Parts: sequence; C-alpha cells; structure tokens
Amino acid sequence: MSELARIGVAIDSDLLAKFDQLIADRGYTNRSEAFRDLIREELVEKSWESVDAEVVGTVTLVYDHHVRMLGEKLTDLQHDHHKNILSTIHVHLDHDNCLEVLIVKGQAGAVQKIAGALISTKGVKHGRLTITTTGAGL
Ligand code: NI
Repeated sequence: MSELARIGVAIDSDLLAKFDQLIADRGYTNRSEAFRDLIREELVEKSWESVDAEVVGTVTLVYDHHVRMLGEKLTDLQHDHHKNILSTIHVHLDHDNCLEVLIVKGQAGAVQKIAGALISTKGVKHGRLTITTTGAGL
C-alpha cells in the first residue's frame, strides 16, 4: 500500500446528508472508506473499457433445465471457452430452475462475448456479467 494522502472535498450539505444516509444504509462506518470504494469502483469499470485488458468476473445464469437442449447448449458453450471459464457452480433451485455462477477470466472483449453468448441463449431467464478486478494495482 502506498503512502496515505489527505484531501479536502467541498460538497453541498444536502448532497452530503444524502451521501451519509446512503453509506450508513450500506454499512459504512466512515466516509473515507466509502469514498475509496467509489473510486475503486470507477477504476474497475474503466479497466474493462479496453478490450484486451486482463479481467476477471462472474456470469450468473438462471434457466429452466426442461427447455429442450438448453443444458447441453450452455455446457457446449462453456467447453468451447474452457480457457476463460475457471469454475462453474450449479445449484438446482427447485424442480425446474437452475442457477449457475461461472468465474471468468481473460481479455475483457473475450469475456464480454462469452457472457453475451450465454446470457442470450434462448431459455435463459436471467443473466448478468459482474465485472470485478484481480485486485492488482488497486
Ligand atoms: Ni439444475
């Protein structure tokens, strides 16, 4: 960790009150950690803008496994991209629905393409790519 720097921020008091309420609701006990997390969030988002940046993330999928060939299609896609998919967790939510969470890694463009292909597969009820960071450089 680098040396700690202190900054002063001028902010409208109404806006600050709303911010304090927001961060209290989210469990922050001080503003500094909330500000640091906001900055890190923007830096992580920015890191995904370059298609060849090395990134990690998760893809969450909810689908009905009774939809014809859907399970096979999703598995085929994952095998096609086995180098980018590090791990998959499958949970049987109820009689019909499955939840899968995939941990993905690789170049941002490739990861986004794989996530898009999985999420847009017919029969997937909900899907989301969550972008995060390897933590290096933050
Ligand atoms: Ni299942």
